[in-house]
Amino acid sequence: MATIAGQQPTIAEPDLQTTIQGWDQAAWSLAALTLVARGDGPPELTTAARDLLAAAGLAAAPGGPLTGLGTAAPGQIASQAAAALHQACALASGRGYEWAAQSDETRLARGHASAQAAVPMIRFMLPMMGDLAGRMAAPGARMLDVGTGVGAAAVASAQQFPQMQVLGIDILDRALDLARQAIAAAGVDDRVTVRKQDVADFADDDGFDMAWLPAPYIAAPALTSGLPRVAAALRAGGWLIVGHGKTGGTPAQDALTRLKTLAHGGTPLDEAAACQLLGEAGLTSVRPIPTPPGAPAITIGQKPT
Ligand SMILES: C[S@@+](CC[C@H](N)C(=O)[O-])C[C@H]1O[C@@H](n2cnc3c(N)ncnc32)[C@H](O)[C@@H]1O
Repeated sequence: MATIAGQQPTIAEPDLQTTIQGWDQAAWSLAALTLVARGDGPPELTTAARDLLAAAGLAAAPGGPLTGLGTAAPGQIASQAAAALHQACALASGRGYEWAAQSDETRLARGHASAQAAVPMIRFMLPMMGDLAGRMAAPGARMLDVGTGVGAAAVASAQQFPQMQVLGIDILDRALDLARQAIAAAGVDDRVTVRKQDVADFADDDGFDMAWLPAPYIAAPALTSGLPRVAAALRAGGWLIVGHGKTGGTPAQDALTRLKTLAHGGTPLDEAAACQLLGEAGLTSVRPIPTPPGAPAITIGQKPT
């Protein structure tokens, strides 16, 4: 190790290098997972990527099929891994400190990741919310998707509930353009509508059976004024589902949650604060519900009947 005359090397120097090497491997492993799960890479590169995954225990043998994916579809894994990489790259390159500055690629990767997660999450949560499953399956059902982005989760929800109308709102023209394309491509334009609308000023007269509000993407002033408006737009007995960062993990996990939330332009919110906001908006049965590892924390509340 090179030293400057008269100075002792600090112990931080070798530690930092070792740490960077570990993180370097993690970044390349995520890229390898994306490549293999997507399945459209050049053969030699894909084999090398598989070998890296096998060494990490994600394939029984070099070149063999991936293991340990649970029930996740390969597309879901590819979206999840790519979304993290795209956004981390934007942050590292200085190109994207705000969500509005993200590339289409980042928006689409994030949207697909959220859509892949939306349906299993809805199925997992519905039994905890009274008759909501029946309401969403009934003719005339309506769902509000706040921060609809590229509309991927709105489309996936509409496909899951073929009678349901979905309204998606967002403040970004580019995201809404991409959402309209996705809605048309999926053939659900008779049931999924998106419009440019800040949740801070939201109002709707027809009512919703379910509304989704992702705090990690909504800045604090918009969340504070928008949440009561969304609650007011629920039908009697309808549910508001607020996604927020999971806290109470290790210091590194909590710090990462906060970094991601701020990088998304959203509001760091813990369970207590989420419960308080829903209670102040006049909702009942307010409570956090347990979510699987890797999923956001969720707090729910119901409009009184
Ligand atoms: C990244 S998306 C979430 C992914 C989305 N479910 C999908 O399928 O693409 C979050 C969105 O929230 C939007 N957003 C942020 N602040 C908002 C606000 N005040 N009102 C409405 N939408 C907002 C952002 O523009 C962003 O497109």
